[in-house]
Amino acid sequence: MNPLHHELKHLYEKVKQDTLIKNNEEDYWRLSYHVMPPIGWLNDPNGVMQYDGVYHLYYQYSPYNANGGLKYWGHQSSKDLVHFKDHGIVLYPDQPYDLHGVYSGTAFVEDGKVHYFYTGNVKHLGEHDYITSGREQNTIYAISHDGGFTIEKVACVLHASDYPKEFSQHIRDPKVFKHAGIYYMLLGARDLNSQGQVIVYKSKDLIEWNYHGVFAGPIDGLGYMWECPDYFEINDTALLIISPQGVESEGYACQNIYQAGYLLGEFDDSKITFIAESQFIELDRGFDFYAPQTFVDRKGRRILWGWMGLPDESGVITNPTVEKGWQHAMTLPRELTVENGQLKQRPLPEYKMLRHDYFTDTLQLNGQYQHEQLRGDVFELIISIDHLEADLEISLRQDTVLYYDQQDELLHLKHGKSGYGRDQRTIELAELHQLQIFSDRSSLEVFVNDGDYVLTTRVYPDQGQDNITINGSARVTIKKWVLKSLT
Ligand code: FRU
Repeated sequence: MNPLHHELKHLYEKVKQDTLIKNNEEDYWRLSYHVMPPIGWLNDPNGVMQYDGVYHLYYQYSPYNANGGLKYWGHQSSKDLVHFKDHGIVLYPDQPYDLHGVYSGTAFVEDGKVHYFYTGNVKHLGEHDYITSGREQNTIYAISHDGGFTIEKVACVLHASDYPKEFSQHIRDPKVFKHAGIYYMLLGARDLNSQGQVIVYKSKDLIEWNYHGVFAGPIDGLGYMWECPDYFEINDTALLIISPQGVESEGYACQNIYQAGYLLGEFDDSKITFIAESQFIELDRGFDFYAPQTFVDRKGRRILWGWMGLPDESGVITNPTVEKGWQHAMTLPRELTVENGQLKQRPLPEYKMLRHDYFTDTLQLNGQYQHEQLRGDVFELIISIDHLEADLEISLRQDTVLYYDQQDELLHLKHGKSGYGRDQRTIELAELHQLQIFSDRSSLEVFVNDGDYVLTTRVYPDQGQDNITINGSARVTIKKWVLKSLT
C-alpha cells in the first residue's frame, strides 16, 4: 500500500474509534439498520455491485467534516444486504486529475475484475465563472483485482478539455454499459444554454474513449443540469434515471430543492440514444432522496440505493446530527420492477430477517385506535386497508402524521417540530389500500400501495416518543414488528 494511504488509513481508524463509541452511546439518532457514515458526512451511493456473492456499496464521503468537504470514496460491504462491514476510505483525492474530490462514479464486473469510472474534481484558483471555467471534471478509470476491497487508479481517460465545446464544465458521474461488444459511457451534463443533458462516449478497450453524441435531452422544463445518470432495461422497458437540478415545482410534484427520478422510453440501438416516452417521474416523494444508483445482483434483481439526503444550502431543512459529528445516510436498498408498464419499488425481502416481536390485529376501525403493543421507534408497520369510509390518519413518532384525504384523493406526509424544517409533502392518490412503513431512529420510509410510491424522510424525535395511533373509519389489518438493531 502507498505509505501515504497507510498513514491516512491509520489516522482514519483512530479518529473513527474515538468518535464512534461516543456517537453510538450518546446519540439516540444514530440509525440502527441503515448504512450511515461512521463519522462525518455521506452523500451519493457509488460503484454499487456484487462480486463473488459479496455486495459492495461505496459512497461520497467526507469523514472529517459533518457539513461535507473534500470527497473520498467510503466503502462498506455485505453478504446479505442487511449487515454491513465498514472498510473505511478506498479512494483518495491524490492525483492532479482528482485533487479536489473523487466524485461520483459507477462500477461493473468483467473478467474477474471490478472496473470503476468516476469523476475527478479539480478546482482552479482565482476568480472564475462557476459554469464555464474554474473547474475540471475529469473521468478516471480504476480497477480492483481483489473483488472490490482495494482500488487502483489506471488512468484519466477523459480530460475536461476533451469534452464537446457546446457543454459547460459541469460534466460528471459516469455510468458504463456494454452493447454489442462496445462500451458506452454516459455522463451527466449542463450545456451552454443551461439545460441538462446526458452525453455518451464509446470505447472498445475502456481506455480510449470517443465522443458519440447526446444520449438524452435536453427537455424543456427539466432543469439546467442532470446529475448521476443511470440507464437500464427491465422487461424491455428502457429507463433513464437522472437527478436534475433546476426543475420548477408543479402542483404537488418536484417540491424539493433538487429532484431524482426517471423517464420511461425506448433505446435506439442504431443511434445509441434514449427516446423518452413518459414525463419525468420522481422516484421518491418525501424530503430526503437524491442521486440514486442501481445494479443487478446475482439473483437478477435490479436494486436501487439512494442518498437519504439532499444538498440543501438554503438552510431551511436541517439535520441536527451535524452537532453530533455526522450527517446523512443511505436509504434502504429497494428492488425495482416494471409491472403493467409502471415502475414498482419494494423493500428487499432480506430485511424480514430483522423482524421480531410480531403484533397483529384486524379490526373495524371507528375512531381512534391505540394498543399497548402498537408503539415503537425502530419498526416495520404494514397497514392494509379495506372499505375506507372516511379520512385516515396515522400518527407516529413525536409529531409526524400520514393523512389520507379521501374526498380530495390526497396522501399527506406532515411533520412537526421533529422534522427540522420539513413541513409537508403530498401525493395524488385515487385509492389507498396499503402502507408499509420502515421507521428507524431518525428516518421514515413509507411505501404506498405495494410500491407505487415511496416517501422518504429524516425525522428527529426525542427519545421515548413512540406512540402510534390510527384514526378513521375502515376495515384494517395491522402487522407490526420491532426491527433488530445492528449497531
Ligand atoms: C450529486 C453530486 C454529483 C457529484 C457528487 C459530489 O449529489 O453533486 O454530481 O459527483 O455529488 O459529491
